[in-house]
Amino acid sequence: MPYHITHRIGLDIGTHSVKGVEVVERGLELIIRAAQVVPISNHSDSNKPPSSEAIVHAIRTMLSSGGFHSTKAILALPPESVHMKWLHLEASNEAELDATARAAAIRGAPFPADDVVVDYRVLLPRGRRGRNIYFVMLVAASSSAIDELLDLADRAGLEPVAVDVGPVAAARSLEDYTSRRSPLWSGQPRAHCVVGAKSTTISVIRGDEFEFARTVPVGGNDFTARIADHLSITWEEAERIKSSRGTQLLPNGTLVCTAGEGELLVPCDNVVGRLAREIQRSLRFFSSQYAEGSYLGIVGSTVLAGGGALLPGLDKALADRGVEINFIANPFAGFSVDVRPGLQSIGDFAAQFVTAMGLAIGDYSAGMSCTKERVTAA
Ligand SMILES: Nc1ncnc2c1ncn2[C@@H]1O[C@H](COP(=O)(O)OP(=O)(O)OP(=O)(O)O)[C@@H](O)[C@H]1O
Ligand SMILES: [Mg+2]
Repeated sequence: MPYHITHRIGLDIGTHSVKGVEVVERGLELIIRAAQVVPISNHSDSNKPPSSEAIVHAIRTMLSSGGFHSTKAILALPPESVHMKWLHLEASNEAELDATARAAAIRGAPFPADDVVVDYRVLLPRGRRGRNIYFVMLVAASSSAIDELLDLADRAGLEPVAVDVGPVAAARSLEDYTSRRSPLWSGQPRAHCVVGAKSTTISVIRGDEFEFARTVPVGGNDFTARIADHLSITWEEAERIKSSRGTQLLPNGTLVCTAGEGELLVPCDNVVGRLAREIQRSLRFFSSQYAEGSYLGIVGSTVLAGGGALLPGLDKALADRGVEINFIANPFAGFSVDVRPGLQSIGDFAAQFVTAMGLAIGDYSAGMSCTKERVTAA
């Protein structure tokens, strides 16, 4: 980003819906000007990703119905287009570290070597310390996925100004929210569980550092599938029932849905159980990287976010299976909101805007998070 942009849209393109947040800088303050979510019309329980036409249509609808003004957009790469890993690397100088980190990022990435863009961050060393040993977070992204994303934004009439990694953007807004909620920081890492439609990303953040991330194939759509299956109804009907007021997940995993006069009960304990197990497994893996009992590996708090977190009772049902959720994120809390009709009620659905908000509040003036240079494997 060669110049400073004061109006911008954080645009999060998911498999279920597109979410956008427009912010305006006034002095040192960031003000939310618009926030909107629009489902992508051809999403369904089929495993096919939505078509680019459907995504472009959803973005255009989002921009017009949400009253967005800016055309400058910051985009997020979805988890499947990004490969992240954390490694100790040895290097005797900065140039060597740079070359080693880039080569290591390419190695093992599930993209062809001529289709990969890499980036890395040096973090504080974990356990092993020594001169010339660096602990680095390596990021490899599919450059064709970046091109596709830029093309989608372009077709929707937007001007992309930066591309970030989805979970990193979500973490930025979640940490910003958490530190405002409780300014005293214990030094312990925090876990973020962003429950999307088809998948959930579990990340661990310590201070400013992104220390772990894993995406697991369970999300909000698994509840929709259970409802459709159990009640023998269409996907659309099941989705509508799931999101209607009054629907609630009981701690035992039974989903109580209000339909017309009566109440319907749908057993969803296996979906909650899978989600709880995946979260536990990920956090256990994170902790296992430290010496047993080391406080460095103990996760201090867990926050829930993403569209899937909007299912009332999910936090309690997870707690019932041993995953204590400290709170559900509201990325808008603490920000001034431009008073316009409709925008006030968006707070009820705030948890699904974590990625879009993280994109909107990021400082990309130092350059893109994913450098656009093409890297060829050595
Ligand atoms: N009010 C609601 N109540 C319950 N579930 C909801 C609600 N709103 C959205 N969801 C569910 O949240 C999920 C979508 O979440 P989100 O918008 O984070 O996903 P996405 O970003 O489009 O997808 P992904 O990140 O998995 O590609 C869907 O399963 C949807 O049914
Ligand atoms: Mg998403």
